[in-house]
Amino acid sequence: MDEFKHNSEENYIEIIQRLVKCIVVLLVIIVVLLVIQITGLPTPQKDLSKKDSDTKIETPEKKSVVDVWIAPDTTQIKIEKNAAQIIYGRELIANTSFYLGPKGKLQHSSNGMNCQNCHLDAGTKPFGNNYSAVASTYPKFRERSGTMESIYKRVNDCFERSLNGKALDTLGSEMQAIVAYIKWLGKDVPKGEKPKGVGLTELTYLDRPADPEKGKTIYMLKCKTCHAENGEGKFNDGQLTYQYPPIWGEHSYNKGAGLFRLSRFAGYVKSNMPQNTTFDSPQLTDEEAWDVSAFVNSQPRPEKNLSKDRPKIAGKPVDHPFGPYADKFTEQQHKYGPFGPIADARKKTKK
Ligand code: HEC
Ligand code: HEC
Repeated sequence: MDEFKHNSEENYIEIIQRLVKCIVVLLVIIVVLLVIQITGLPTPQKDLSKKDSDTKIETPEKKSVVDVWIAPDTTQIKIEKNAAQIIYGRELIANTSFYLGPKGKLQHSSNGMNCQNCHLDAGTKPFGNNYSAVASTYPKFRERSGTMESIYKRVNDCFERSLNGKALDTLGSEMQAIVAYIKWLGKDVPKGEKPKGVGLTELTYLDRPADPEKGKTIYMLKCKTCHAENGEGKFNDGQLTYQYPPIWGEHSYNKGAGLFRLSRFAGYVKSNMPQNTTFDSPQLTDEEAWDVSAFVNSQPRPEKNLSKDRPKIAGKPVDHPFGPYADKFTEQQHKYGPFGPIADARKKTKK
């Protein structure tokens, strides 16, 4: 009986020992599970938050790129009925001088510049004076002529002013091709709309006049290597086309051209110059862009009879460099600024 008692006591102890072991094992399992839970839970959370912040970072980046107009894919021109005409139009925009320059293969009716010198990458570059909104907004009323203008008229404006040349025959195959290309470029832009990245960058006005002296220093430092000491640019071999187009002097755009307005020049340069600059990585400050514009546009260049321009003088842009004006600001201020006070005065008279 004693022995039995002893035995059952031993059994009891053994059972307790086993129970303790079980409890320890269970505790270990619970601890392990807890550890897994604690370190395991944040992992998916981390992933989630990573994704969150990823998309947060991505959205603005994507937006700026997605928002900016992208030209249609040129490899798709071939599916168009008038593919050959569109391709010829693109060629004329890119190599205008080869066909129509002073030594052009077809005729000699322009100054040696290419449309593409100002309408970069054949008129496709964001803020590089692209043609994205031409098909969608023309024909339209323009203050410059005081009339409704067709795309033909607008193209010939650049021939007569920016290329300081002669207008093309509207029915000729060159004009027809140029317009076909411009229409193809804008084919996906809804009527009346202007995509982001159209035309030129609009810079904020300086609160002082743009300074040709400061601009000269910038020109000598950052532009002269390509556009040359006297703004004459540099020819390619054979002198048929320019490697670096002239920016003043007898072969440059005339005083009726868009770039002769300071805001157009400054906006162009800010997002595109020196060569290969893009709108999202400008090389010049706004001040530098305004000042270099003042310097270049105070240099000599071809004249143009502008007596028929801007029949409504109140419709002159603030930086239209030729009087008379509907306001009391001087021609000097309309040319070099500050433009802010002119713009403000206009807002007041409109109210
Ligand atoms: C010296 C620079 C220069 C050259 C070269 C030039 N243009 Fe222009 N062009 C301009 C400027 C500046 C504007 C007006 C941009 C603005 O007001 O925002 C313009 C505007 C235009 C527009 C109207 C764009 C719009 O959205 O309303 C068309 C079309 C055009 N040019 C076609 C041509 C063609 C075709 C050629 C070649 C025959 C050419 N340009 C050569 C500077 C140039
Ligand atoms: C590395 C060479 C290079 C430098 C530096 C350079 N450009 Fe240009 N520039 C070009 C080329 C090339 C073009 C024509 C672009 C094309 O056809 O694709 C051009 C075009 C232009 C045009 C329009 C066409 C014309 O001749 O009127 C202007 C205006 C202009 N540049 C101004 C400037 C200014 C201002 C600077 C200095 C801040 C500058 N560039 C620096 C190479 C250069």
